[in-house]
Amino acid sequence: MAYEMHNLIINNSEKLFGEINIPGDKSITHRAIMLASLAQGKTQIQNYLISEDCMNTIKIMKLLGVNISESEENLFVEGRGINSLSEPNEPLYAGNSGTLMRLLSGIMAMQSFESTIVGDDSLNKRPMKRIIEPLKSMGAIINSNNSKAPLQIKSNKLKKPINFFSKIPSAQVKSCLIFAALFAEGESIIEEIAHTRDHTEKLLKHFNYPIEIIDKKVIIQGKKNFNAKQISIPSDISSAAFFIVAALIKKDSEIIIKNVGLNSFRTGILDVLIEMGGDIKILNKSLNGTEPIGDIHAKYSKLKPIKLSGDIIIRLIDELPILFIACTSCSGVCEFFDIEELRYKESDRIKSMEEGLKKLGIQTKSTQNSFKITGGKLNGGIVDSYSDHRIAMSFVIAGLVSEKPITIINTLNINTSFPLFYSTLRESGVQIYQS
Ligand code: S3P
Repeated sequence: MAYEMHNLIINNSEKLFGEINIPGDKSITHRAIMLASLAQGKTQIQNYLISEDCMNTIKIMKLLGVNISESEENLFVEGRGINSLSEPNEPLYAGNSGTLMRLLSGIMAMQSFESTIVGDDSLNKRPMKRIIEPLKSMGAIINSNNSKAPLQIKSNKLKKPINFFSKIPSAQVKSCLIFAALFAEGESIIEEIAHTRDHTEKLLKHFNYPIEIIDKKVIIQGKKNFNAKQISIPSDISSAAFFIVAALIKKDSEIIIKNVGLNSFRTGILDVLIEMGGDIKILNKSLNGTEPIGDIHAKYSKLKPIKLSGDIIIRLIDELPILFIACTSCSGVCEFFDIEELRYKESDRIKSMEEGLKKLGIQTKSTQNSFKITGGKLNGGIVDSYSDHRIAMSFVIAGLVSEKPITIINTLNINTSFPLFYSTLRESGVQIYQS
C-alpha cells in the first residue's frame, strides 16, 4: 500500500534479512505500455510497475484512444496499429516523469493532430531542447516555454526520417527519436555518443519490428505495423539498489532480491559496489523475454573508497544518490566526475545530496560536474528530499546506520517510482515511521 504522509523518520534499526520482491522496472513499463498501444492486437504486460509515473502513462494512452484494462498483476493493452491514435480532448499530464514526457513527445510530434504535454513543477523546469531540436528536423512543430514544458505540439505534415548523432548520453533522447522514427516515411539512423539503456530497442526486437543495432547506431524503418506479443517485466534494479546498499552497510544484514533486471546498461551499480568490496552474488541467471534477470544476494561488507568517471556513470546514473550513501560508510574519500546530468533530474541531485549529507555531518565538495565525499559517521537530523523520490529513499537508507534518527521531509514522491518502499522496508525488519 502506498503511504500518504509527507515525512519519514528512521532510527538506527535492526539488520535487514530475508527474501525481498521489488516491483517491475519503471523504464520498461513506460515503454511496454506505449509500444503495446501501437501494436496490432491485445498485449498482456505482466509485473508492470504500479506507481504514479506509470499510471500517468496509462491515463495518457487511454486519452489517445487506446483501450487498457488493469489488474494487480497484469495490464491488457488493446493496440490498433501504428496509425490508430486519436486527438486527446485535454492536455496530457506527464506528472513528475521525464521519461514519460520525452518518450511521449516522440510519438505526439509525428501525429496529424495537436496535443499539449504538461508536467508538475519539477518536470516543467527540466531541459527539453535536447528532444525539441531533433524532432523539429523531422517536421515537428513544437511551441515551448523557453525549451521547457508545457510542450504544445502541432500536426506534423512532413513526417521526415532522421539521421542524428546525439551528443548527450541519454536513453530518453534516443528513445524519443526511435518512437518518432516509427511514424516517419523511410529509414532513420540515431547514433549516440555512448551506450545508454536499450530497453526500447529490445522491446521493438521482441515485437519483431524492423530495427538494427550496429554498435552505438540504431537503424529503424518507419511505418511498419507489428503484432501484439506478451511482455513480462523484470524487477527494477534502480529500486533494488536501495536494498542492496542497505544490506551492505547495515551490520549482520543478508538479503536476496528476486528476479531483478540485469540489463548490462543498468548494472553499473553492482559492478561498482563489488569493486568497493561489497559481498554481492548473482544467482539463478536467466532470460526474461529479451531482458536478462537474476536474484541478487547481498551481505554486510566493509566498503572501500572509489573514484568514478566516464562511461560507468551512464550505467548507474539513477543509482548515484544511493551510491553516495554507501560512500559515507567507507574510510577515505570517494570521488565522482562527469556527473553534470545529475543536475537535470527530478531535483538537482548533486545539490540535494550535498545539502543533506552536510546536515548529517559528512564532508563533501562539489563542482558543476563532480562530487567528493569523505566517509564518516552519520549524525541524525532533518533532511529535505526536495520532493525527489531517489533522494528521499537514499536518506531513508542512511537512517539505518545514523547515530540518531533522520527525518526526511517531502517524501510523497516516493510514490512516483516505488509506492511499496515503506512496506517492503518494514517487512525486511526495518523500523521506519511516517509523520
Ligand atoms: C531513463 C533514462 C535516464 C534515467 C531515467 C530513466 C529511461 O535518463 O535517468 O530515470 O527510462 O530512459 P536520461 O536518459 O535522460 O539520462
